[in-house]
Amino acid sequence: MGKVRPLGGGSWVFFSQLLSNFGTVGAIAPSSPLLAKAIVHPLEDRPQRPISVLEAGAGTGVFTSQILKRLRRGDRLDVYELNPRYFGYLSRFLQGQELHSRGIRCNLYNADVRLLSQARPYDFIVCGLPFNSFDVQTVDEILEILMSHLAATGVFAYFEYSLPPGVRSRFLKAAERDRLRKVSLRIGRFVRKHQFGSRQVWWNFPPAKARFCRKASAGSGLPETSRDKTAEAQPPARPVKH
Ligand SMILES: C[S@@+](CC[C@H](N)C(=O)[O-])C[C@H]1O[C@@H](n2cnc3c(N)ncnc32)[C@H](O)[C@@H]1O
Repeated sequence: MGKVRPLGGGSWVFFSQLLSNFGTVGAIAPSSPLLAKAIVHPLEDRPQRPISVLEAGAGTGVFTSQILKRLRRGDRLDVYELNPRYFGYLSRFLQGQELHSRGIRCNLYNADVRLLSQARPYDFIVCGLPFNSFDVQTVDEILEILMSHLAATGVFAYFEYSLPPGVRSRFLKAAERDRLRKVSLRIGRFVRKHQFGSRQVWWNFPPAKARFCRKASAGSGLPETSRDKTAEAQPPARPVKH
């Protein structure tokens, strides 16, 4: 397994954005190393040929580290992170990894993953996006875009917090409860159609389940959504190459 040089201060950077950006960060703490190892588990069975990997919503790079450890010469990693502060931290972290000498191409985008411009499909997509913080149209749109960029034999991995039913919604106003209910129904439908495996991780705050999904043979089955016009009107995001 490849070596990764840690960059300290990640937790502090993560917490510094929580209050001002809770709607997009959607977590009270960075994921634990155990959840990170669980979510990248499909890379243990990776093909021998070079692969393409996408990470959406990298935060301070807990999953990125575990992905990089498992990448080999010729592989490619594209990382999308919306938050400028996390992007800056990730950029410094990636600069310290000597990816060029390891033969790994890495592009880091400070952009919404809905601006994904890669034409080639990905073998593995790791998604750290907080679906429960989004409205149902955004969830549909993101799932549709990510699944359409997944290779026919590719794996899409994401996680959900394992909270007892009703705990989250108990403290919410009616409109928020309704939003959350619709998102849960949508995610539930997606999971029934696409999931082929999962791993429960108790050592995370809160405990979480990593879910592994792939394309359904009869198409993704996701509803057609009208793309975010603002996102479509913008030019493709430009990466920082590492
Ligand atoms: C729950 S945090 C997860 C961070 C990290 N993967 C982890 O597990 O600790 C979600 C991350 O997704 C980012 N994010 C939210 N919406 C995004 C979008 N549309 N495109 C790219 N990143 C997004 C947030 O800025 C945040 O860093």
